Amino acid sequence: MRILFLGAPGAGKGTQSKKLSARLRLPHLSSGDLLRENVKEGTQTGVVAKSYMDQGNLVPDEILIDMFRARLTGPDCANGFILDGFPRTLVQAKALDQLLIEIHHPLTAVINLQINDPLLVERITGRRTCSNQSCQAVYHVKFSPPGNDMICDHCNNPLIQRSDDKEELVKQRFTVYAHETEPLIEYYDKKLLLKTVDAEGDRDNIFALVLQTLKVPV
Ligand code: AP5
Repeated sequence: MRILFLGAPGAGKGTQSKKLSARLRLPHLSSGDLLRENVKEGTQTGVVAKSYMDQGNLVPDEILIDMFRARLTGPDCANGFILDGFPRTLVQAKALDQLLIEIHHPLTAVINLQINDPLLVERITGRRTCSNQSCQAVYHVKFSPPGNDMICDHCNNPLIQRSDDKEELVKQRFTVYAHETEPLIEYYDKKLLLKTVDAEGDRDNIFALVLQTLKVPV
C-alpha cells in the first residue's frame, strides 16, 4: 500500500501514520522528522529549513521534492510507504504524481484526518517529544503523559517542546495550512483517492477507523 496522510497541524498525522507503518510494516516517511533531523545535524538543508520552520512557514518546495525523490526511490519503499506531511502544496503534489508515475507506484489512498481547531491547539501546545534523536517518542502533557515527569518512558532522556509548538507560532501554521495545504483535499478528492476520517476521538478508535477505511482487518 502507498498511503498519504493529510490534516492540519496537530490532527494526529504522526500518531496515526506511525501506527499504520508498524501495522503494515511499511516505512513511515515524515517530512517534519526528516527536516528536524537535518536541522539537528546542521546540514545545509537543515540551516535553510530552520529559518522557515522557526517562523511557522513552509520550507521551499524544491527542498522537499528533492528529499522525497531520494527517499521514495530507495529500496525500502519498493513494497509501499506511509507519507506524513508531504506533499503540502499543489506544486509538491504534482511533483509527487510525476515521480510515482516514473516509478510505477501510484498512491493507494489519501487519508484526511478531520478535526476542529480548538482541539488542535490543545494537542499541539501540549505535545512533548523525546530529545533523543534516535527515539523521538511523542507524548502529550494531558492525553498521553510519560510515566515519569518529563522523562521518556523508552530511553530515559528528557522531553522537550518543539520550537514551533509555542502558541504564538501555531496560528501562523494554521494560516499556512489553510492557504497552501487545504486545497489538496479537493485535489485528491477529484482523483477519487480521498478518504476522510473523523480524528477527534481516542487514538485507538481513530486507528480502527483508518484500518476500516483502508479495508485492513482491525
Ligand atoms: P510537521 O512536523 O509535519 O508538523 P505539522 O504538520 O504541523 O504536524 P504536527 O507534527 O504538528 O502534527 P501531527 O498531525 O503529526 O500530530 P501528532 O500526531 O504529532 O512539520 C513541521 C514544519 O516542517 C512545518 O511547519 C514546515 O515548516 C516544515 N514542513 C514539513 N513538511 C513540509 C512540506 N511538505 N513542505 C514544506 N515545509 C514542510 O499529534 C499532536 C499531539 O496530539 C501529540 O502530543 C499527540 O500525542 C497528541 N494526539 C494525537 N492524537 C491524539 C488523540 N486522538 N487524542 C489525544 N491526543 C492525541
